[in-house]
Amino acid sequence: MLGRVNHIAIAVPDLAAATTSYRDTLGARVSQAEALPEHGVTVVFVELENTKVELLEPLGSDSPIAAFLAKNPAGGMHHICYEVADIVAAREDLVRSGARVLGSGEPKIGAHGKPVLFLHPKDFFGTLIELEQV
Ligand code: CO
Repeated sequence: MLGRVNHIAIAVPDLAAATTSYRDTLGARVSQAEALPEHGVTVVFVELENTKVELLEPLGSDSPIAAFLAKNPAGGMHHICYEVADIVAAREDLVRSGARVLGSGEPKIGAHGKPVLFLHPKDFFGTLIELEQV
């Protein structure tokens, strides 16, 4: 079912500081900050050779990462995104296996313009999993 790691997302309390750290301390290539109001985050993409890391800062009052940052004020790994070829087929297999899909269960268009779903972290060893159809 799973293909490549599409991205790893890290929630951060201060996007400018995190961007500086990745660019200057870790020597990574980083994008400009991009506000995604429909997703409640501002994001910076750290471009790596084999995948990317997304630094996420809350945007707006009902950001989906606000509760995570309240519990993890220094920031932390928020989710890992795996690519799948057919997101509806993947969902059907997962639901049949007893895994829980978050929200309505219907794929939404994610930050990259592709359909995504999120899987309950309690079903996968404490890690929030995003599936993205590529
Ligand atoms: Co993501």
